[in-house]
Amino acid sequence: MTEFAAIAAPAAPRSAELIDGKAMAATIRGELRETVAKLAANGTHPGLAVALVGEDPASAVYVGGKIRACKEIGIRSIEARLPADTTTAQLLELIDQWNADDNVDGILVQLPLPRGLDTQAVVERILPSKDVDGFGADNLGRLAQGRPRLVACTPWGVMEMLKRWGQPSGWTPAGKRAVVIGRSITVGRPMALLLLSADATVTICHSRTPDLASAVRQAEIVVAAAGQRHLVQGDWIAKGAVVIDVGIHRGEDGKLTGDVDFATASQRARAITPVPGGVGPMTIAMLMANTVSACRQRRGQGV
Ligand code: GUN
Repeated sequence: MTEFAAIAAPAAPRSAELIDGKAMAATIRGELRETVAKLAANGTHPGLAVALVGEDPASAVYVGGKIRACKEIGIRSIEARLPADTTTAQLLELIDQWNADDNVDGILVQLPLPRGLDTQAVVERILPSKDVDGFGADNLGRLAQGRPRLVACTPWGVMEMLKRWGQPSGWTPAGKRAVVIGRSITVGRPMALLLLSADATVTICHSRTPDLASAVRQAEIVVAAAGQRHLVQGDWIAKGAVVIDVGIHRGEDGKLTGDVDFATASQRARAITPVPGGVGPMTIAMLMANTVSACRQRRGQGV
């Protein structure tokens, strides 16, 4: 071995463009602040009610971010922090109160709920017109029918990122092969429906998909929402693909990373979202947009 061979080759540079969700979300929040100020001038004040059950630290951080965004934009927020031993009946009663409260335009129950609570009953109890998460059968069914009303915030945020990133070059999802990894109600399923509505050819992959790598290698758009750290390897990414990473995981070093191995994937992708600073801030921005939209739909388009 020569002395030169011992010198590590420098890491290949990142060639992908970063899709800056943090900056896009700030722009959207700015747009919404103006809209909310106009509504307020007409005497209309959008309101969001948020329930957090139990002590999950990650959920507490997410709810904190949502309440902060409300304050920034001028949306009134009501927060209910309930103990982990809250019963399904108690939570349903709270939702009933918020359903009946005319000052509440949007209702969000932070998931996952503590074990023993009936998530489906809770999600379905929220009035479809106030279901700003878009998880209920009415809103998800409407999306499946291609006539969306309130759309789940994370997948809608991904579509908004693709739209804003693609605008300067004229890139759109239309006609592209898209692979969505994950089939949850919160992300994977609505994501696939939205991409389909945008004329992509969509494949949904999940934990039982054989040879995930070869499915991803076909994709011009990859949305990773599997909840598994660094599941998607760089050499799975087709040259020039657009990669959206919905995952968020805290490594042993305390750093946040996603479902995609960013260091290697960013050498092959055309564009990629970072973690943090990618999809996360967009989810909150779209929740704010849904709350304003629910307010307008409930109180009449003119407001
Ligand atoms: N937990 C993780 N993401 C979400 C979300 O978008 N909405 C709710 N309610 N809970 C979540």
